[in-house]
Amino acid sequence: MMSLWKYLALAALVGLTVGPAAAAGDADRGEGIHAQRCEVCHGEEGDGAGAGAERLNPPPRDFTMAQYKIKTTGFEDILPDDDDLFRVIRDGMPGTSMPGWSDMLSDQDMWDLIAYLKVLGELEEEEPGVPVDFTTQIASSEDSIAKGKPLFEDRCVECHGNEGKGDAAKSLRDDDGERTWPRNLTKPWTFRASDDPKDIFARVSVGIAGTQMPPFADPKSKKKLTVEERWHVANYTASLGAAGEPVNPENTVVKAARIDGEVPRTPDDPSWRDSVPTTFYLVPQIIAEERHFTPSNDTITLRAVYNETDIAFLLQWDDRTKSIPGDSQAEKISGPGLAEDSVAVQLPVEIPEGMVKPYFVMGDTARPVNLWQWNSGTTDAPETVTLVNGRGIDNIEERDAAKAGVGANGSWRDGTWSVVMTRPLATAEPDADLQFVEGKFIPIAFAAWDGSNGETATKYTMTTWYWLLLAPEAGARPYVVALVVMLLVAAGLLWWARSAARRAGQAEG
Ligand code: HEC
Ligand code: HEC
Repeated sequence: MMSLWKYLALAALVGLTVGPAAAAGDADRGEGIHAQRCEVCHGEEGDGAGAGAERLNPPPRDFTMAQYKIKTTGFEDILPDDDDLFRVIRDGMPGTSMPGWSDMLSDQDMWDLIAYLKVLGELEEEEPGVPVDFTTQIASSEDSIAKGKPLFEDRCVECHGNEGKGDAAKSLRDDDGERTWPRNLTKPWTFRASDDPKDIFARVSVGIAGTQMPPFADPKSKKKLTVEERWHVANYTASLGAAGEPVNPENTVVKAARIDGEVPRTPDDPSWRDSVPTTFYLVPQIIAEERHFTPSNDTITLRAVYNETDIAFLLQWDDRTKSIPGDSQAEKISGPGLAEDSVAVQLPVEIPEGMVKPYFVMGDTARPVNLWQWNSGTTDAPETVTLVNGRGIDNIEERDAAKAGVGANGSWRDGTWSVVMTRPLATAEPDADLQFVEGKFIPIAFAAWDGSNGETATKYTMTTWYWLLLAPEAGARPYVVALVVMLLVAAGLLWWARSAARRAGQAEG
């Protein structure tokens, strides 16, 4: 009778308890489940050397090292709480290939696995240490967030960047010498645990074992923060991602607004403020060789405006590193051999009348595409913009970007690239270049390359086809007709994007 209430009261106190009370696990049974479900990634011996491991970043955990990242025990405790392990197995680790298992495994299966993990790590005799005390919580408020900001600026920006986008000012490696990147704190859906202030408080207090994310509760650390300060900094950190995930899967249209006067040619131009942003997912290119499995760029945000003669796009995406080959600071952070960062807009040469769009990877013979590509430049050469026509990935024709009037201008600040691309609506070669017209839904796709992540040529991230609409004043008839067509196709596209994302997930796994 008493036990359930006692459990609930305890759970409320601890705050992050995951549900079912820890049950005794059977390690032998756990070994069998591990062989069936976990071995592909974590390896036959549980040493992280599974068949799929090489392609994964971060790599699967080596359980024999007995080191766990997400724990609510003290920073000096080796052993996580059983509930910590249960939670990671049940929910997975977002932003990595570690899946959640709640659909496939019973609670008992998971407790059995935990017993087996302890055998692998020789932790059977270990007692969990003193848990993080969540009863000290200071609720988030304007006041607490304001107190957290200067603490964040003092303790966190060297790794997480001024705006928390993970643009570290130094090179970071984990204990195995693997390159690691601090989290982009403005994207809480990529957190391994969550952006609940309690979770952030726990990570800030005990650190993330094996990585350079330090424990700020360590009394010996010069950077030590008091309990109160850790709550303020956690509340501030949680506020960085408060805007939520920017992708609205229902929105498949980049609406170009008609403006009077010149189209903007730089990212800082104030006229961008009036245009509506649209954000799409970037997925790794896994169709043509050489495929890409460890992407870093995940979303891209677009704006577009046009006037009587020209169109301008603003492309923005978070990229932790400004990859300028030859730049000693860039090479210090990213390591040697970095390539230029890059972004591209893909458009059909001809606006399709029906539903058939060009093949989305560089077009096809019947339906060629224009690709405008901006490159960030090196210390010896300025940024460049190129124009190619694609009739398939092996059938590329280089063209003269200047002659077609394609221009570009990019700048990087605090972990975000902003690149403007412009072109006249009409060109001298209507057979080779898309001629922009008002009121029609024009297929458009985007691609990005992170030069610090080995992304060049066919290793890149991209969107599927979406739509561009040069939206004239409201009420124009072509707009209404086109809208109906668009609604019909949108459902199909949505299905495509979802199954592509699923395929990418499977390929990674
Ligand atoms: C598709 C690959 C994949 C599979 C399958 C997989 N894992 Fe993982 N797992 C990972 C990766 C990658 C990480 C490391 C993530 C990181 O370091 O951020 C990880 C980390 C972990 C961790 C460490 C958590 C922590 O706090 O550090 C545990 C525990 C774990 N996995 C358990 C399991 C169990 C149990 C199974 C089988 C039921 C399993 N994994 C199946 C990829 C996988
Ligand atoms: C010396 C570098 C460094 C400093 C300083 C640092 N971090 Fe981190 N942080 C990291 C790294 C690296 C990771 C990613 C670790 C991993 O999972 O591989 C990380 C991850 C995180 C996460 C992600 C948690 C999750 O669930 O995924 C949060 C939140 C975080 N840090 C907050 C902070 C805050 C707040 C501060 C300042 C009080 C701070 N960090 C200071 C390097 C640092």
